[in-house]
Amino acid sequence: MQRIAQDVYTGKLSGYLYDQRTYLQDSVYESFSRGSMIPDDIRADFPLLSKVCYLDSAATSLSPEPVLEAMLAYEHDFRANSGRGVHRLAQQASQKYRDAHVKVRKFIHADEGELVFTRNSTEAINMVASGLPWQKGDQVITTLLEHHSNLLPWMRLRDRQGIDLGLITPSTDGTLDPAALEAIISRKTRLVAVTQTSNVLGNVVPIREFAGICQDYGALLLVDGSQSVPHIPVNVEHLGCDFLCFSGHKMLGPTGTGVLYMKKSGLEPLLVGGGSVEQVTASGYTLTEGYERYEAGTPNIAGAIGLARAVEYLETLGMDDIRHHEQQLTRRIIDDLTGIEKVQVFGPGSEGDRIGVISFAIKGLNPHDVAIMLDGEANIMVRSGHHCCMPLMDHLNLPEGTVRASLHCYNTPEDADLFVDSVRKIAGDFKR
Ligand SMILES: Cc1ncc(COP(=O)(O)O)c(C=O)c1O
Repeated sequence: MQRIAQDVYTGKLSGYLYDQRTYLQDSVYESFSRGSMIPDDIRADFPLLSKVCYLDSAATSLSPEPVLEAMLAYEHDFRANSGRGVHRLAQQASQKYRDAHVKVRKFIHADEGELVFTRNSTEAINMVASGLPWQKGDQVITTLLEHHSNLLPWMRLRDRQGIDLGLITPSTDGTLDPAALEAIISRKTRLVAVTQTSNVLGNVVPIREFAGICQDYGALLLVDGSQSVPHIPVNVEHLGCDFLCFSGHKMLGPTGTGVLYMKKSGLEPLLVGGGSVEQVTASGYTLTEGYERYEAGTPNIAGAIGLARAVEYLETLGMDDIRHHEQQLTRRIIDDLTGIEKVQVFGPGSEGDRIGVISFAIKGLNPHDVAIMLDGEANIMVRSGHHCCMPLMDHLNLPEGTVRASLHCYNTPEDADLFVDSVRKIAGDFKR
């Protein structure tokens, strides 16, 4: 494995890693994959994987061919608006759109009427921030672990509407202690907004414990599932949350698709207009009761169909198996990275407490430089910088941020080993 990385660097292996599969020791590869239920041949569904080693799925995942085909089928065979016309293409498009809703809703075990399609997680969170009837003196509690998308909407609410904003601070490995919530929650707390898994440190937050505390105080719980729903089985009933958001593009689906789950509606829609009304007269309107109430305007029909197909794809692989597969790879990468001098790995040490998001730094090197080197010299795509989590970076005293490798079901032990060997090379340490 080490030789492969060295050869990539010295130019002996031009081209791409996956042209070199035969070059790898099959036994090494297979002995690892034996423990995984994810079949190797799914990689053929992701054409980009034949060109690059993709370790940036926390930013956006790749979409498999069946997702693209489902979207293309809409364009080629039944493109029409949904929920409006009566001709047969309109009916087909409407049916497929409704089916997409059902598919995605069942994926997280939500009931009818509880799921709204959005553009992404960011829009979903903003819908909650703008749609609840806030009163001065209400408190929102969020955490320093959050992505800007689960922080800025609450800051803006504080600035515009005088909401009191409470912040819980995680430990340096990302752990959010429910006791910290207990310490600041009160009867004035209207909503607690927290991520289920950190997009920087990869840790899994004990949401059920948070939910129990929220229930004791009558506070709503919004869970940011952007990095959890794509990787671990999520059941909204078990979580006990009132709102859950996630983005389609991180779960093998198309960009421009997202979801807001809400247990009870009552939220004021962000937009009103065509498609969301029951009755309109010259003097007023009545909004529909269903999810359409929150989806004014023509939705992203192809996107919804693609997202539903992505969900089907994930279900076929099995969320438990995806989780297991990514945990194995995560363990492998963390074990190897921590052995490299000059490399500091962030987040919890145990793969049981984390998803396949591995943030690290190489002493003396700017994270962006490391990412550029990984790309230029080893064809590996990773994210670098603050990951839209500037307050967390301040808290961790990492002004330049981190380098972040992130996994999905299509990554392999080959990816893991090439990545670690490349980091080792960059860190100037060839000692195993
Ligand atoms: C934890 C978390 N929340 C929210 C978001 C925002 O997602 P989007 O840009 O799809 O709205 C991201 C994106 O990286 C994320 O990682």
